[in-house]
Amino acid sequence: MIAFDNGTKSLLLSGKNYSYCMYINCAGLLQHLYWGKKIGAADAAFLVTAHGLPASPNPDDYNKDMATDGMPSECGSFGRGDFRPATVIVRREDGAAMSRFRYVSHKIVKGALHLQGMPCARKADETLILTLKDDFSDIELDLNYSVSEDSDVLVRSAVMRNAGKDAAEIAKAFSFCTELPDTRGTWSALRLAGSWARERTPVVTPLAEGTLRIESARGYSSHQMNPFLAVLSEDCGEESGECYGFNLLYSGSFAITADVSHNKSIRVQGGINDFLFGWQLQGGETFATPQAALCYSAEGLGGMSRAYHDFFREYIIDPKRVYARRPVVINNWEATYFDFDNEKLCSIIDEAAKLGMDTFVLDDGWFGKRDGDTSGLGDWFVNEEKLKGGLKAVIGHCKEKGLKFGLWFEPEMVSEDSELYRAHPDWAIGKAGVEPCRGRNQLVLDFTRKEVVDYIFETVSKILRENEISYVKWDKNRDITENYTANLPADRQGEFWHRYTLGFYGLAERLTKAFPNVFFEGCAGGGGRFDGGALYYFPQIWTSDDTDGLERTKIQWGTSVCYPVSAMSCHVSACPNHQTGRTTPFATRGAIASLGATGYELDLTKLSEEEKAQVREQIENYKLIDELVLRGDLYRLADPFDGNYFCEMLVSKDKSKAYLVGERFRGDPCDHDRVMKLFGLNESKTYTIRELNVTASGAALMGAGLFCPRLPDCGSWVWHIEEV
Ligand code: GLA
Repeated sequence: MIAFDNGTKSLLLSGKNYSYCMYINCAGLLQHLYWGKKIGAADAAFLVTAHGLPASPNPDDYNKDMATDGMPSECGSFGRGDFRPATVIVRREDGAAMSRFRYVSHKIVKGALHLQGMPCARKADETLILTLKDDFSDIELDLNYSVSEDSDVLVRSAVMRNAGKDAAEIAKAFSFCTELPDTRGTWSALRLAGSWARERTPVVTPLAEGTLRIESARGYSSHQMNPFLAVLSEDCGEESGECYGFNLLYSGSFAITADVSHNKSIRVQGGINDFLFGWQLQGGETFATPQAALCYSAEGLGGMSRAYHDFFREYIIDPKRVYARRPVVINNWEATYFDFDNEKLCSIIDEAAKLGMDTFVLDDGWFGKRDGDTSGLGDWFVNEEKLKGGLKAVIGHCKEKGLKFGLWFEPEMVSEDSELYRAHPDWAIGKAGVEPCRGRNQLVLDFTRKEVVDYIFETVSKILRENEISYVKWDKNRDITENYTANLPADRQGEFWHRYTLGFYGLAERLTKAFPNVFFEGCAGGGGRFDGGALYYFPQIWTSDDTDGLERTKIQWGTSVCYPVSAMSCHVSACPNHQTGRTTPFATRGAIASLGATGYELDLTKLSEEEKAQVREQIENYKLIDELVLRGDLYRLADPFDGNYFCEMLVSKDKSKAYLVGERFRGDPCDHDRVMKLFGLNESKTYTIRELNVTASGAALMGAGLFCPRLPDCGSWVWHIEEV
C-alpha cells in the first residue's frame, strides 16, 4: 500500500510487515522519516512532526546554509552542503558537478516497473514514481519504489532523463539511498565475502563514523564480495532483533556503502560501481539503474533470509521453473575433467540411469579443440574427433537409458588458440598494443559490442536447435581486466563495465526466450556470479567448486543469508575431495547436497556397491523432500562458522512437515551434549521424528529440543519431521 498525504506531503509505503515513510520538506527535498515495523496511515503526520528535519522551516536555509548535512535523505546531494557520499552526480559540459534533486511530482501506478534489458522484479502491487529535478542541470530523476502486500521487500531503482538539449554526464548513478537515523547503539554490518571455493562467508564488523564500502571492480558481482549488505541492530541474532538488508539485483561491478555520519545516522546506498563510472546522456535520453531489493526484518537474520527467499522465488526467478521439480543431475566434470570419450561418458550414463538420476550434463571439453584450458573457447561446435558421432551419439545413449541431456558453455569467453580468436582478435577485451592479462589462459569477449553478442547467440543457438538439449550450464571463469573497448570513444569509457553487463543480460534474455524448454543453470568458476540479477535468468546457480562435505556447510549457510536453497546447485563429489583433500562420509556429502538442488559430480563407475545403494536411497529420499527445498522456510539452527556443528531445517509453509540436516565436524569427546532446539514449527501441533521414533508437540521440540547424535568426524544426521 502506498499513501500520499497532501497536508503533510508525506508518503507512507507498507508491505507485509514493514512501513517506509518519507516526506517532501519545505524546500522540496525528499526527507527520509522511518523504516521499520508496520504503522498506520495516520502515523505519517506524527512522523513529519516528530522526525521532520531540520528545525528551521525556511526553505532558503537549504540554499545558503549547510542545512542538508544532517538531513536523512532519499537522495544524497553533492556540492551543496551535504558532505556525505552523494547518490546521483551529474557533470555538466563545463565540468561543474554539484547536484541536488528536488521534488517535481509523483504518481502511484499499479504493478511493477519493467526495466528494459535488465533483470527486474516480475511483479508488484504498486509502484511509487517520484520525479525530482536537478537544481543545476536538465536532468530529471525518477526514484521508484515498488511494494507488495505479501512481501517484506521494497524494490528500488532510479531513472535519469535528460530533459534538455545539452549532453550531460551521469558521474554516479546509485540505485537507492536510505538512512537509518536511530542508530546510537552499536550497529554492525554483515557482508558476504570470500574467494573461489570459499564463496559468501558472512563477515560482521561494527559500524563506526566513516564509510564502509563493499564493492566489486572485477566486471561481475564476484566470489570476493556479494552485492549484498545487511545492517544489524545491537541485539540482532539469528531469530530476533532488527536488521536491514540491501541486495542489488545486479551482476556487474557494484558498490554498496554505509556511511555513519557525525550525528550517528547511517546512510546506506548502492548501485553500479561509481569508480571511473560515467554515462553520457544526450538530450532526450534516459538511463536506468539496476534494481535493489531492500528488506526490513524484526525477526533477526533468519527473518530477513526467509523474506529474501520468498522474494527471489516469487518475484525474480522464472515462475515456470521456480517450483518445478529439479532434475537430479550427474555432471562429468570431476569424473573426467577434459579427458573423456564416448565410451567413458556412456559408462557414466549407464550407471546414472541405474541409480535413478534424471539428467546427464556434459561439462567442459566437448567443443572446438579443447583438451585443456588453453584452447577452444569460442568455438561452439562439436569436436567430432573426441566425440564420435557428435553430441547426437551421446544424447541418443542418454535417451535410450531414460536420461535427459545437458551441456556446458562459457559464452562470454575466448581462447587465443581458437578459430574465433584467429578470425576476430579484436573481439576480445583489451587495448591494442597492451599485452592482455590472462585468467585461466583465456580472454573475455567484448560484450559491449552487439556483433559479438549476436555471433555467440547464433552459434550457441545452433547447437541448442540441432540437438535435444534440456539443460545448459552457463559458466564464466575469469575477471575482466584492461576495462577498455575500442567500441566507445575516449570520453565514454566510463560506460564500459555496465555495457558489458548489459551485453550479458541481453544474451541471457535472448537465449532463455528462444529456448523456453531449456533449463539454464548459472555458474562462474563456482559461485562467482551468484546474485539476484543472474537468478532472473538462471533458476539455479552452481554454488561453489568446493563440494567438500564440511566446507560446503559454510558456503551454503552463507549463501542462504540471501538466496533460497532451491537456487543452490549442490553436488555429491568424490573423496578425497578435489579441492580440500579431505575425506568425509558419503552419507554426509549426500545429506548436505540434499539442502539444495541436488546432483552428483563423480565417476559413478568407481563407486562401491554400498555407495551405489546409498545413492539410490539418497535420490529416493530427496524426491520425498524436494518440495521443502523448493518452497519451504529455512531455519538455521547451528552456525558452522561458530562451533562444532552445522544444522539447518526446512519447514513447509503450513508447518505440517519439516526436514532437518545436521553435521558434527569433530568427534570431540567433551562436546556430545549439544541440544538442538527446533524452529519454525507450530507450538500446538504434534509431530513425529521418523528417525528417532519420537512424538512431541511443536512447543516441546522448539522449547526443549533434542540431543544431537554422537558422531565421528564429519558425521551427519537427517530428521524427517511430520505432523501426526
Ligand atoms: C568452472 C566450473 C566447474 C567446471 C569448470 C569447467 O570451474 O565451476 O564446475 O564447469 O569450470 O572448466
